[in-house]
Amino acid sequence: PIQTLTPMAIQARKGKEPIVCLTAYTTPIARLADAACDVVLVGDSVGMVLHGLPSTLGVTMDMMILHGNAVMRGIGKALCVVDMPFGSYEESPAQAFRNASRLLAETGAAAVKLEGGVSMKETIAFLVARGVPVMGHIGLTPQAVNVLGGYKVQGRNEDAQRVLADARAVEEAGAFAIVLEKLPRSLGADITNRLGIPTIGIGAGPECDGQILVIDDMLGLFADFRPKFVKRYANLAEQAEQALASYAQDVRSRAFPGPEHSFGERT
Ligand code: KIV
Ligand code: NA
Repeated sequence: PIQTLTPMAIQARKGKEPIVCLTAYTTPIARLADAACDVVLVGDSVGMVLHGLPSTLGVTMDMMILHGNAVMRGIGKALCVVDMPFGSYEESPAQAFRNASRLLAETGAAAVKLEGGVSMKETIAFLVARGVPVMGHIGLTPQAVNVLGGYKVQGRNEDAQRVLADARAVEEAGAFAIVLEKLPRSLGADITNRLGIPTIGIGAGPECDGQILVIDDMLGLFADFRPKFVKRYANLAEQAEQALASYAQDVRSRAFPGPEHSFGERT
């Protein structure tokens, strides 16, 4: 059997080749991401991208386990990381362990990701000490949108000290990697230089040790809004719209189904 990349192997990539990461929520997309990437994240962005929720706050453990299983069926070699949803870890280290262990045991993924720096230091250390590899996530933490007051760039000017302290806390707690979301490029570079663990950037500049994008954003499938940090590598929503319009036209004009889609007489 093919060995999947371990959290330790990802950690050891620091200073070597860039770490390629994407989100996935379904088996067919996980197969494609597994072939192209080092890390496949079952992000809680699934709530907005696939379920039409207005934010990630309504995402549940059941949703993460369902999509985690779907993704794991498509994984061969990449490291699969599952997001801990809002409300599943913030209360106490014990609550975090109870839910993180469920995510690993019930999906087969090897690591979890959770949002927060200094405030989550004790929790991250508690999980790592008990066998749960943790990827951190600081800067713009979407689960905190209601206290941050929107999806704004974090760490500008004096706020850089807070973000840097969060980065240090996550590393000291024993995380194997850390997502940096929506930071000025110079701060992304600075944190990357100061930390011994790899930084995975999303809107944090090209100096990060790796990059991650939401799969539906980079495919141009999720077109509701488009953050500046997203590069579109395809325009699948547009192509799908055209395909559906052609189908509707064909059915209405009886051009579909044709003889090649129809079955002959009984013999
Ligand atoms: O939920 C998600 O997709 C994420 C990544 C964008 C980092 O947390
Ligand atoms: Na997330």
